[in-house]
Amino acid sequence: MSTYVAPDLTSLGLAQLTSLAGRGALVTGGARGIGAAIATRLAEAGARVVIADRDGAEERAAALSAGRDHRVTGITMDIADEESVRAGVASAAEGGSLDVLVNNAAILDPTGDPLGASSDHLRRILDVNVVGTFQVTREVASRMAPGGSVVNVVSTSGLRVSKGTMAYAASKHAVTGLTRSLALELSDRGIRVTGVAPGIVSTPGVAEVIDDMVAFGYGNDRPPLQPFGRQGLPDDIARVVYFLCTDLASWVSGQVIGVESGRLEVLA
Ligand SMILES: NC(=O)c1ccc[n+]([C@@H]2O[C@H](COP(=O)([O-])OP(=O)(O)OC[C@H]3O[C@@H](n4cnc5c(N)ncnc54)[C@H](O)[C@@H]3O)[C@@H](O)[C@H]2O)c1
Repeated sequence: MSTYVAPDLTSLGLAQLTSLAGRGALVTGGARGIGAAIATRLAEAGARVVIADRDGAEERAAALSAGRDHRVTGITMDIADEESVRAGVASAAEGGSLDVLVNNAAILDPTGDPLGASSDHLRRILDVNVVGTFQVTREVASRMAPGGSVVNVVSTSGLRVSKGTMAYAASKHAVTGLTRSLALELSDRGIRVTGVAPGIVSTPGVAEVIDDMVAFGYGNDRPPLQPFGRQGLPDDIARVVYFLCTDLASWVSGQVIGVESGRLEVLA
């Protein structure tokens, strides 16, 4: 029996349920791609947003705040470096409560033939994508009040596999495990832990690796990479993350929701 009792929100209107006013949100990897789109939507909903990235956080925060009422700041943080995470989260918490965490930062480096891969390749990807996600969550969730929300940006590679991406798939399956495990562990504290599993989305990170991924066979065993007539856009993912951050989703935890136009779940 949980010691946390969720409030009954039935009497709240949609304006209150969709607002993040008065809440603080930390978005890792928010300087570009999907993370930047998430930071934009959370700021639009009234949250005080802190972008944490190893590169370009302050520049992106300044761009998102310029000419708008948005409150966005940027801090330099490497999620794979424990000291950097401790210092970064402590500094983010000085600005006010942290009620929302979006673990978005990750690296995608195709493996190609697993039998030719080095152990260091696997270690490097697990260090950022899994250990990094864990240590940011530990530092933020230990400061979170009941009602807090942690959203992990997983991947369809955290639910299914494709050729050429063994290390990434192993890391994202581990993040699915973290999501489910932490949802259970943190439920007594009234903290929800959820995930989204994007399909292919046009971002700078994907542009850097997609040719290699396709050459290694990625997607060959699946329906076309462009269902619905186009690739996914960062904001397609950000809108679902936003939903999971709000009280609209107060009865959702432990789920990893596919945001991939049905390519894997329906068409495969
Ligand atoms: N784009 C896609 O097709 C796709 C599909 C499924 C899942 N995802 C996931 O979405 C998330 C964002 O992907 P994207 O395509 O926007 O990537 P991207 O490479 O365009 O952006 C990632 C951001 O994370 C930052 N980052 C990387 N390592 C970091 C570290 N150690 N510490 C702090 N910041 C770090 C980068 O500096 C960058 O700003 C990732 O978790 C990725 O696995 C992306």
